[in-house]
Amino acid sequence: QKVCLAYSGGLDTSCILAWLIEKGYGVICFMADVGQEEDFEAAKEKALKIGAEKCYIEDLRREFIEEMCFPAVQCNAIYENVYLLGTSLARPVIARAQIAVAQKEGCFAVSHGCTGKGNDQVRFELAFYALQPKITVIAPWRDPVFYKRFAGRSDLLDYAAEKGIPVTSTKSKPWSMDENLAHCSYEAGILEDPDVTAPRDMWKLTVDPEDAPNKPEDFTLFFDKGIPTKLIYQEGGQQKTVTDAVDLFLATNAIARRNGVGRIDIVENRFIGLKSRGCYETPGLTCLRAAHVDLEGLVMDREVRALRDQFITFNYAKILYNGYYFSPEREFLEDSIVSSQKHVNGQVRCRAFKGTFTVLGRSSETEKLYDPTESSMDEIGDFEPADTTGFISVMAIRLKKYGKAKEEAGEK
Ligand code: ARG
Ligand code: SIN
Repeated sequence: QKVCLAYSGGLDTSCILAWLIEKGYGVICFMADVGQEEDFEAAKEKALKIGAEKCYIEDLRREFIEEMCFPAVQCNAIYENVYLLGTSLARPVIARAQIAVAQKEGCFAVSHGCTGKGNDQVRFELAFYALQPKITVIAPWRDPVFYKRFAGRSDLLDYAAEKGIPVTSTKSKPWSMDENLAHCSYEAGILEDPDVTAPRDMWKLTVDPEDAPNKPEDFTLFFDKGIPTKLIYQEGGQQKTVTDAVDLFLATNAIARRNGVGRIDIVENRFIGLKSRGCYETPGLTCLRAAHVDLEGLVMDREVRALRDQFITFNYAKILYNGYYFSPEREFLEDSIVSSQKHVNGQVRCRAFKGTFTVLGRSSETEKLYDPTESSMDEIGDFEPADTTGFISVMAIRLKKYGKAKEEAGEK
């Protein structure tokens, strides 16, 4: 009987691999390339050495950007006002690719190394069940036999020694990380005290804003129906234009990274009900989202925008965070997002400077909702100022009643 294991090359999943083999399963390892810095070939070699029958390395970068990150930009997705969902966005494409490998290899089960306290176990498993309802999930960190045997890191190390699993000598960092093209997250370990400042050398994607160049870097982002389609920036005194989705994302990342843009430090509410402190750096996505929000100001209808903000953005983020990507509600909201973005075409001139992202200007060739003459303070145009007197009196009817009642009750 075969099991498809999501393998990282680290100590935990290496021990899980050996343990599954010890239990008599044939194990197919699966690794997802979502743009994290990783020696995939070394990890694959390690998996095969431990005894995996095969090890797949799937390049999911393009689908991650096109299917997950861009729709997130389109709807300004954000969780609890700050988290741009970098990990949550990667889980659906990873789960889908793992199920595809499991199917191809005829595996009856899939397995992963997520802990029993996190969001990721929920995200992966809800996706597995939605994509392959009959699949069996083996989650060792929720199996009492496993977690009682491996109660501490030293138990894992002893087991690794016993099984001849090479343990990389690099001291493991005192926090847990999850990296992809969109972000890098840091949680647990020394970060569990929410009042401990994250050490300077923890951040791996972005330069410290203090060390960022003293000269601002300007660039222009173009959107078509709310999707980023072009980036123009300067490099070595030359103008560069990027249009491919992955290249655009990578180039935006590079600009933000060298200017220290996109760091946050928060305490968030996990789906299962626990609070968790996390630090995140989300360089490019921070710029793309902020530029998109800005362009909407110019081109989007006020009421569409308000309804989208009230009903779509919050719920889309919640759906992603809680792991309900493969669900009818996500499909439904995504249709509304697309519909809301019909006129979100234009360009935003941006500046990255010492940890900040600012907008310098924006324009749109197709959208004419903003009429400079109409909005001008210096020109009357077709506008009849006297009309506004009536508008205000009608709007004030209710407030006058409210004010009068308060006055009569002697309230302030
Ligand atoms: N708290 C974040 C989230 O739930 C990050 C999770 C990071 N996952 C990890 N396996 N280190 O999206
Ligand atoms: C884990 O617990 O496996 C990582 C953190 C999370 O899933 O929230």
